[in-house]
Amino acid sequence: MSYAKVLAVGLTGVTGHVVAVEADLALGLPAMTLTGLPDTALNEARDRVRAAIVNSGRTWPNRRITVNLLPATLPKHGSGFDLPVAVAVLASAGELPPAPLDGVALIGELGLDGTVRPVRGVLPMAVAAARAGLTHLIVPAANAREASAVPGLTVRAVDTLHRLLAYVRDGGALLDPPPPDDAPSTSMPDLADVTGQALARRALEVAAAGGHNLSLLGPPGAGKTMLAERLPSILPPLSDADAMEVTAVHSIAGALPADGRLIRRPPFQAPHHSASVAALVGGGSALARPGALSLAHRGVLFLDEAAEFSTRALDALRQPLESGRVTIARAHGSTEYPAQVQLVLASNPCPCAKPAGDTACECTPLVRRRYLARISGPLLDRIDVQVTLNPLRAAHLMTDTTTEPSSAVAARVAAARAAAAARWSPGAWQVNAEVPGPHLRRPPWRLPVRDTADLRRSLDSGALSARGFDRVLRLAWTIADLDGRPRPDRHDVNEASLLRLGDHR
Ligand SMILES: Nc1ncnc2c1ncn2[C@@H]1O[C@H](COP(=O)(O)OP(=O)(O)OP(=O)(O)O)[C@@H](O)[C@H]1O
Ligand SMILES: [Mg+2]
Ligand SMILES: [Zn+2]
Repeated sequence: MSYAKVLAVGLTGVTGHVVAVEADLALGLPAMTLTGLPDTALNEARDRVRAAIVNSGRTWPNRRITVNLLPATLPKHGSGFDLPVAVAVLASAGELPPAPLDGVALIGELGLDGTVRPVRGVLPMAVAAARAGLTHLIVPAANAREASAVPGLTVRAVDTLHRLLAYVRDGGALLDPPPPDDAPSTSMPDLADVTGQALARRALEVAAAGGHNLSLLGPPGAGKTMLAERLPSILPPLSDADAMEVTAVHSIAGALPADGRLIRRPPFQAPHHSASVAALVGGGSALARPGALSLAHRGVLFLDEAAEFSTRALDALRQPLESGRVTIARAHGSTEYPAQVQLVLASNPCPCAKPAGDTACECTPLVRRRYLARISGPLLDRIDVQVTLNPLRAAHLMTDTTTEPSSAVAARVAAARAAAAARWSPGAWQVNAEVPGPHLRRPPWRLPVRDTADLRRSLDSGALSARGFDRVLRLAWTIADLDGRPRPDRHDVNEASLLRLGDHR
C-alpha cells in the first residue's frame, strides 16, 4: 500500500474542524513534502515525526513522501498534527493495518523520543469531532480529561507513539482518561468580608443584576479591590453552552483548572497594569494565545489601578469591548476569540495614592483631573455604574455587623436577571445593559414625565449627556428589577442617577 488517510482536528479561533491527513509514497529521491497550507510549526513537524518514528523502533520509509492536509483552504496551526502525520506515513508504507483507526481522529504533538505531548485547545477539537459525527478520539494523556468532558465521544489516550502503534498493529492497550477530581471547587471570596461601603455594595449588586460595567473610585484601602474580586460570587453560574465555550477558550490558552472539570462559574481576570498588549488581548505565533480579555469571556475583566495602564493597552481594549470579540492579526490570516466581558475598573482619585483631603496629598486639581482623564477618555464612556468610595472609618470596621453574604445577594441578582430576561425576550437581550437607549425612550417602555423630571433638567442644563441619560434609564430598570417592581418609579430613577454620576464624570 502506498496511500493512507488518517483523521485529525484543526482549530480556527475557538472552532474545531475535522481534517484529513493523507500520505502518499512514491519512487524517487527520499524526501517529505507537506501540503495544505502548513504553517511553520507544521514544517517543524516533519523533523519531529521522523525522529519520533525512528526512536520508536520503526523504519522511516526511504521514499518520496507527500503528506497533504485537507481541506486545503483551512489554515492549520500548531503541533497537534504530529501524531496523525506519523501514523499516516507508516500506514502508507504498509506498516500498519488501516482498520483500527477507521473513523477515529488523532491529536498529539510528538517529542523526538516518541513521547506524545499535550497540545492546547483539545476541548474545542473534541467538540468538533463529536459534531462531525465521530465517536472515537485519541489524544495525549495529559489532555484526556478535558476531551472526555464532551458528551457522546469515547476518548482514549496515549503517552507514546510506541503505545499507539502497538494498539494499531497488535491490539495493545490504550490509556483511559482519569476521572474528574472530587475535591470541592475552590471557595470564592465572599461579600460577608466587606464592611460598610453601602453605596459601593449596592453598585456591585446593580452591576451584577443588569450586566453593567462598573467603575470604583476611592482612596487606598477603601475596599475597591476586595469588592471587585467578589463580583463573580454574586453572578449566576454559566449555562451548559457557556461553560463549554468558556472552557474551550481556557483550553486554547493552556490555562485549564487542574480539577479537569468544565468552568461553571463566570471567570475573573485581573491583569496587572504592566501587562503587555498581547497578554491583554492575545497574540503569539502559530496557535495564538487568548489574552486576559478572552479568558474573562462571560465573566469579569478587572482593571485594578486602571489609570496606571498604558494608553496603548487601554486603546487595544476599546474595540473588542465594543464588539465582544478580539481579532488577532497574524502572518497567515487572523484569529478571532470571543470577549464578552463585564468590565470593572478601580482607581485612586490621584496619582500619589494618598487619601483626598489628607495633608500628605499635594496633587493639584489639574493633576487629579489629568490622572482620571487617562481612563475617562477611552473607557469611562462604556461604564454605566460609577461610584466613589469614602475612606473606611475605624468605627465602621469595628462595629458594622450588617455584612450580608454573597449567597443572599446572588439570590436577588438571579431574580432580577430572570425578570429582565423575560421582559426583553422578544428583543433577544439578556440583561438591561444590552438594551439600546432608543428602545427605552419609546413606548411601551418610556417612563412618565413625572418620574424623569430631574433627569430631564440635568440633560437640559448640560450636566448630563444624551448617552448618560440612556445609561441612567438602563440602571433604573435594573434597580426596579432588583426591588421587584414591574417598572422603575421616580426613586429608582434618582438612585440610578446617583450610581451613574458618583462624582466623577
Ligand atoms: N470595606 C472593607 N471591609 C473590610 N475590610 C476592608 C475594607 N476595605 C479595606 N479592607 C481591608 O483593607 C485591605 C485593602 O483593601 P483593598 O485592597 O480592597 O483596598 P483598595 O481600595 O483596593 O486599596 P488600593 O487603592 O490601595 O488598592 C483589605 O485586604 C482588607 O483587609
Ligand atoms: Mg486595590
Ligand atoms: Zn495626591
